[in-house]
Amino acid sequence: MRQLVTGGAGFIGSHLVEALLKEGHEVRVVDSLITGRRSNLDTFYKDIEFIEGDLANPEIARKAVQGVDCIFHEAAVPSVPRSVETPLLTQHNGEIALLNVLTEAVAAGVRRVVLAASSSAYGDTPTLPKVETMPSSPRSPYAASKLACEGYLSAFAHSYPIDTVSLRYFNVFGLRQDPGSPYSGVIAKFTTVMKKGERPVIYGDGKQTRDFCYIANAVQANLLAMRHHNPLKGGVFNIGYGRQTSLNELVRVLNRLFGTSLEPVYQPSRAGDVRDSLADISKAVGVLGYCPTHDLESGLREFLAQSE
Ligand SMILES: NC(=O)c1ccc[n+]([C@@H]2O[C@H](COP(=O)([O-])OP(=O)(O)OC[C@H]3O[C@@H](n4cnc5c(N)ncnc54)[C@H](O)[C@@H]3O)[C@@H](O)[C@H]2O)c1
Repeated sequence: MRQLVTGGAGFIGSHLVEALLKEGHEVRVVDSLITGRRSNLDTFYKDIEFIEGDLANPEIARKAVQGVDCIFHEAAVPSVPRSVETPLLTQHNGEIALLNVLTEAVAAGVRRVVLAASSSAYGDTPTLPKVETMPSSPRSPYAASKLACEGYLSAFAHSYPIDTVSLRYFNVFGLRQDPGSPYSGVIAKFTTVMKKGERPVIYGDGKQTRDFCYIANAVQANLLAMRHHNPLKGGVFNIGYGRQTSLNELVRVLNRLFGTSLEPVYQPSRAGDVRDSLADISKAVGVLGYCPTHDLESGLREFLAQSE
């Protein structure tokens, strides 16, 4: 079976590519390299088909989906602050790219599209844990874009002969996550600076919490979504670990793993960031059979060992 990973040169996409190859699938990747890197695919580049191009161009989307069983749509510019600065860029690589993929996927007879959705759709509502039935409340153009994409997935599953499912990732971390930009994920940034003996920067008081989800858990959820026998009909599933960790606690765990005692540097909080986040994963557990294998600490240990 041939599977397509859009955004496959990115962090999560490259792990999916690796896992699909291990399962014996043929894998095609399409990526514009706007945030991803070809080097993320170095170790298995010879085993995949790579299309460099922007999915906001319908021709690229058409070429990418031909002969494909399932599409893992990871492509996006995944940054809250960047979306606040340039919302049209977020829309171009979000809704526009997705609509091309969906339209061409229907025409090509693709069986299922699995979307990389985001917990940011919940916004900053105080109730925790977040359950899929709660109302959404996007607080950034990024969150609004991700929510619109979920809407299109549901609409396409109900309007055309294609099945779709949205996986709302909570904070995913692991190898190949880009630490280098001001928009990078917090674990990628903290581990990079703390490894060098430098103090990590926290925006806010550090008491804000996240549900950190190791990459192996996110990959597992995607493979389960691909294999699921019944139609998922645009359903939305939280994909996290199901535990809340403050950024201050994250720094403490990293200090323990590195054998350091670095104090964070506190700076003013950023626009669009949510205060607290925690996933209720019971729907994914019950319907998809999701069973996360790594908690924060075991995920961090594996990640740090791999990045040595
Ligand atoms: N990392 C997380 O914690 C997290 C959390 C929630 C949701 N997500 C979602 O998961 C997906 C993957 O995130 P990631 O962390 O791996 O980010 P990433 O930036 O490493 O990967 C995104 C990839 O998409 C590519 N891309 C972007 N626009 C494109 C376009 N128009 N055409 C072709 N390729 C394009 C980029 O070049 C990049 O390789 C994103 O959709 C993101 O919104 C990630």
